[in-house]
Amino acid sequence: MGGDESGSNPDHIPVLLDEVLKNLVQAKAGTYVDATFGRGGHSRALLRALDTHARVVTIDRDPTAVAAAQTLAAQDTRLSVLQGRFSQMTDLLEAHTPVQGVLMDLGVSSPQLDTPERGFSFRAAGPLDMRMNPEEGESAAEWLNRAQEAEIATVLKEFGEERFARRIAKAIVAARPFEDTLALADVVAAAVPGRGQPGKHPATRTFQAVRIFINEEMQELDQGLQAAFAALAPAGRLAVISFHSLEDRAVKQLFRRLTQPPALPRRVPVRHSEMSSPAEHIAGPVRATAAECAANPRARSATLRVIAKKALPSQEVHN
Ligand SMILES: C[S@@+](CC[C@H](N)C(=O)[O-])C[C@H]1O[C@@H](n2cnc3c(N)ncnc32)[C@H](O)[C@@H]1O
Repeated sequence: MGGDESGSNPDHIPVLLDEVLKNLVQAKAGTYVDATFGRGGHSRALLRALDTHARVVTIDRDPTAVAAAQTLAAQDTRLSVLQGRFSQMTDLLEAHTPVQGVLMDLGVSSPQLDTPERGFSFRAAGPLDMRMNPEEGESAAEWLNRAQEAEIATVLKEFGEERFARRIAKAIVAARPFEDTLALADVVAAAVPGRGQPGKHPATRTFQAVRIFINEEMQELDQGLQAAFAALAPAGRLAVISFHSLEDRAVKQLFRRLTQPPALPRRVPVRHSEMSSPAEHIAGPVRATAAECAANPRARSATLRVIAKKALPSQEVHN
């Protein structure tokens, strides 16, 4: 759900729920993967929509999300819970594949954003952590306090598309060490000329960029999409909700590659399987309605895209 901090609901309201269910669920007795449990809004709805023989396998890298998932699994035995990164989905899912559908609802959850101790928010004082799994890797403070100025500038530019990346990186290096979120937000705000875009906190892009870098979100996305597609049974579906342009671009590019037939030399006899693409487009870009955005401001930046894996190609030869 990206870096939009306009909501303050401690629960996570699932985004584009009806659209996800409509486009993802084709077999009510199938196995579905919710690769981003969060607080389980989508998992709960999937369990409601599926029948008694179905299975929902859910993954999250955040131990607090996994604990919430285990509580739900204790009430509904159709749910299996796995802790880990979705880039590792192939290994995590081994006993459950192939599956009829995978959902990836990217970014951070409302409880992550709204819990100051997690350090994701520039609006509330907390330790500058930003790790989705606080037991893994370096915190935002540890990295910002040791990184070279040029490296910080590159991260801000690449993952935050921040125009003032170099200026902000210089100010960060001059003001460090940092321990808490508000100190970083203040230094960034002072470094942005004219205090940035109206209606947007000047530290929005910096916090998004640091979070993406610390959690290796773009590598996770690339590997997670590939692993999710590989896990699908023929006719299985992959639904992805992204929250900012970098994510959406990565999803769009992979989906385009999978749904377009490969370019082949003309007048060469080819098998049907060589002419056709491995997937077909099902839906997207789907955006939230005005009513959903009014009820859940975090839906404003959401984009859903859905593809289906094609059934196994026949072995015919066409001239
Ligand atoms: C937007 S929330 C999902 C909200 C959920 N759909 C709901 O309705 O409650 C994203 C969740 O994905 C998890 N996540 C993000 N990247 C991940 C990754 N690479 N591997 C596993 N979990 C990840 C986060 O920890 C977070 O809990």
